[in-house]
Amino acid sequence: MSERVSLDRLRDQAITVRQQAYVPYSHFPVGAALLTPGGQVFTGCNVENASYPLSLCAERAAVATAIASGARQFEAIFIVGANSLAMPCGGCRQVLSEFGDMRVYVSQGTGDDVKQFWLHDLLPASFQLNPSSEEPTRS
Ligand code: THU
Repeated sequence: MSERVSLDRLRDQAITVRQQAYVPYSHFPVGAALLTPGGQVFTGCNVENASYPLSLCAERAAVATAIASGARQFEAIFIVGANSLAMPCGGCRQVLSEFGDMRVYVSQGTGDDVKQFWLHDLLPASFQLNPSSEEPTRS
């Protein structure tokens, strides 16, 4: 955990962005906050669609925001669901694993209910197109 950003601050940013979730179908808002080694935080919320499979998870929205800002390395992601823990779905685990291992914190956002995992424990033996390559580089 970057010393510049505490776990509480990362959680607070996930809670804040959760308020923007567009969830007319599931009514299940999710917020995610990605932390870089340099202490930057990028957030995302879920964005649903009338064509349900096109809905975007909060974690992938956060990744898109971070990538558009030039970030490529992440040390943690904090995910807050509502009324129940929102463990990252399989697709989001794969998307996050593109950027290496990281801590995954999950909470409802209320009280002291934070669970923490390593991404590699949530998605062992993830698919990598070129397993021997270094961190993804800009092209
Ligand atoms: N969802 C996320 O945004 N992240 C997760 O980790 C799990 C599920 C969203 C997708 C959909 O908008 C809603 O939660 C209910 O599945």
